[in-house]
Amino acid sequence: MKVYTPKPDTLPPGARRLLYGLFCRLNRNIKVLRRLAALFLWFPFVGGWFGVAARASAVRDVMTRPRSFSNSAHAANLASGEYLIGMDPGPTYATDKLVLDARLDALKPTLPASADREVQRLVECLKGADKPFDLIEDYLMWIVFRAMHPLFDTASARVAAGAQGDVGDPGLQRQYLMEIRYVAGQLLAGSTATLRVQRRAELCADALRARIAGVSDDIRQAWNVSASRHFIERNAVGLAWISHPVTVQSGALIVQELLERPEVHKDLRKRAAQLGPEVWQDGNFRDLVRDHVLELMRFRPIFPLLSRDVPRDTEFETGARRNAPCAAGGKVTVLSIAAMFDSRAVPDIGRFCPARDWGDQQDLRWLMFGFGTRQCPAKDYAVDILTSALIGLLILPELQLADGGGKAITYDGALMSGMRVGFTSPVGKESHA
Ligand code: HEM
Repeated sequence: MKVYTPKPDTLPPGARRLLYGLFCRLNRNIKVLRRLAALFLWFPFVGGWFGVAARASAVRDVMTRPRSFSNSAHAANLASGEYLIGMDPGPTYATDKLVLDARLDALKPTLPASADREVQRLVECLKGADKPFDLIEDYLMWIVFRAMHPLFDTASARVAAGAQGDVGDPGLQRQYLMEIRYVAGQLLAGSTATLRVQRRAELCADALRARIAGVSDDIRQAWNVSASRHFIERNAVGLAWISHPVTVQSGALIVQELLERPEVHKDLRKRAAQLGPEVWQDGNFRDLVRDHVLELMRFRPIFPLLSRDVPRDTEFETGARRNAPCAAGGKVTVLSIAAMFDSRAVPDIGRFCPARDWGDQQDLRWLMFGFGTRQCPAKDYAVDILTSALIGLLILPELQLADGGGKAITYDGALMSGMRVGFTSPVGKESHA
């Protein structure tokens, strides 16, 4: 177990708190961030001064040059150690990617059926209880957990319970899910996070590493690979934190966006009601919901921006008359939230339109999952799971944010920690008008 030694803070007292506070506020108020992004779209030379790629063309330029703009920018925020997302291409990246691809292949035959099953189970429980519930803790967390089961296959229950724990104990499972949430949170919060938040991520990362070390033989058997302990542990730790929390958080974000669009919400609910029990089998409806998931994610991405290291002097095309010079040792910001709304690439892109024909601009539709060779390899699975989760919410009585005295949405830094929702009318009395 690593002993925590506080790092000297290079920022003046108070400045870190202020910076982190600002970062969290911007993340929570995505509309403000979108307006800011619009400025960079209009005046790309400003992005040139600050090393910000905003226009679709600039973002594509940066993201398709992994040697000039390196993913190592993530490395410092990987609290639990080295993993794919923070590596440059090379032998370690290549072998780790093979393991990841094999684990993702294991999801192929089970999705979306496994997600649908868990959603149907939860929908029945929530209907039966007929009271407000937490969208994250009581719904999304478990759907993603069960849907991701094949990633660790026969070792899944052991990973969640730990070497000594009771595999049927939901308390231990919950503890595991919190542990990976804080480790993943550090990827998002980055170096501006307060030292307390960073320390929490480090402590959880230590616990996660110890947990995985305790069950690495189970994982080796489940994965059926003969590799060193170190190799298994690195990949298992990485896969644990990268798969679950981001998907859960994205689910909460799309529901937040949907609830702010009552007409869209009502229309989807009406179509679900017309299908009745066929709602799970109807391919057209599933496609419709999937299109909505993608569009809602575009309006509320969990990664509105990404960072890249600049290993050697270079430049990128901002879209202004002059290219942006990037000095070796610096960083570049990829403002995906701007590129996803760049009307030079797709006219009328600012409009919420799930049925839009993206033509040859599909990459912009999926930009919340990154772009190029480093794009999220699990994007289709994540969208599958979120589609199932959203269908479940559409067949429940109509949802609204619950105002039980406190705030319905609670935050932990940049992430949502809770989202309480309730039904607008009692179960059995709902209308689909
Ligand atoms: C809605 C859910 C998800 C979102 C929004 C998301 C988003 C992203 C983004 C934006 C990147 C690119 C980062 C960059 O270019 O710097 C990425 C990479 C990655 N994601 Fe996801 N992700 C999600 C779910 C998942 C899941 C479920 C898994 C695993 C099962 C996963 C595994 C990875 C891995 C391994 C990478 C690194 C790929 C590489 O660098 O080659 N993600 N993800």
